[in-house]
Amino acid sequence: MQILGIETSCDETGIAIYDSDKGLLAESLHSQIEQHAIYGGVVPELASRDHIRYILPLIRQTLTKANTSLDHIDAIAYTKGPGLAGALLVGAAVGETLAMCLNIPSIGIHHLEGHLLSPLLADEPPCFPFVALLVSGGHTQFMYVKTVGNYQLLGETLDDAAGEAFDKTAKLLQLDYPGGPAIAEIAREGHPGRFCFPRPMLHSGDLNMSFSGLKTAVMTQVSRLDNLDRQTTADIALAFEEAVSDVLSQKAIVALKQCECKTLVIAGGVGANTRLRQTLEKRLKKINAAVFYPPVALCTDNGAMIALAGALRLKQGIPHQQDHAFSVLPRWPLDQLPAAK
Ligand code: KG4
Ligand code: ZN
Repeated sequence: MQILGIETSCDETGIAIYDSDKGLLAESLHSQIEQHAIYGGVVPELASRDHIRYILPLIRQTLTKANTSLDHIDAIAYTKGPGLAGALLVGAAVGETLAMCLNIPSIGIHHLEGHLLSPLLADEPPCFPFVALLVSGGHTQFMYVKTVGNYQLLGETLDDAAGEAFDKTAKLLQLDYPGGPAIAEIAREGHPGRFCFPRPMLHSGDLNMSFSGLKTAVMTQVSRLDNLDRQTTADIALAFEEAVSDVLSQKAIVALKQCECKTLVIAGGVGANTRLRQTLEKRLKKINAAVFYPPVALCTDNGAMIALAGALRLKQGIPHQQDHAFSVLPRWPLDQLPAAK
């Protein structure tokens, strides 16, 4: 079964074709980062217009790369939410129209379910059940994943998401958008120990987190400095990364113990962060637990995770769109997914 996956929830147009027997056949991505960078964040209307511009050429390109054609596509999966309403509508409209014209099933996928299942695209995928740490621009959550579609929220950030904290801190440090990769890059030049930022809610006794205070601590530090030179920026970036990695890895250990589980899966854009990966690997080794990631390129938004989630959900017999009428869900809690038949 070949599934065409369409991701348009934010600032990346991602298209992929996943074969349920052969795996990922091809994927294409168009990032809008350059367009939004001058505004320091995503401008929703520009995002929608750019998805319209790129979605059909990218679908054609991906079909060619996969050496297949629309006649061989068996189902279409697109991101139904959460995300920017206008951006989601582009993917949903194209997905449902194609499915109607081809007379094939279509399925609207939860963006975070896509991230959550994306480590299954790795060469050595994890086995169920696992604890997932979802760390993206809009979410930071621990989930207990018993199987596809069975997700239990264990704890989450009470304010800013970790990715949001990266982006806001980068802005404070006058670094480029998106902040995550910019902070990671300059932090490599940082000297450890010069700054130390608070670890919010580290000992709260639950799996909730808070990252807005961390950003404020960076702001206070920056305002005390006479001059934000490159070395100081690097030292702050490093201390910031250390604080985030420390909180996420300590909470991950609590989550694993609570679920009596030895497998942690990292998904979402912040999962691309090397320091976070290294810290998690080192600490989890000590408790004999293993950590799994999607391939780095599939940490941030992409069509492959949507195609994969579509394939797995359709296999489970999840009800799909019959009449191809569609709607999107800009806000959509992960525990409100449709159940298998
Ligand atoms: O999952 P994602 O692509 O989009 C959402 O669904 O939100 O995540 C985007 C977030 C941004 O906040 C970006 O700054 C962050 O992931 N990010 C990183 C890195 N690459 C992307 N954060 C830390 N280190 C990175 N290398
Ligand atoms: Zn995402």
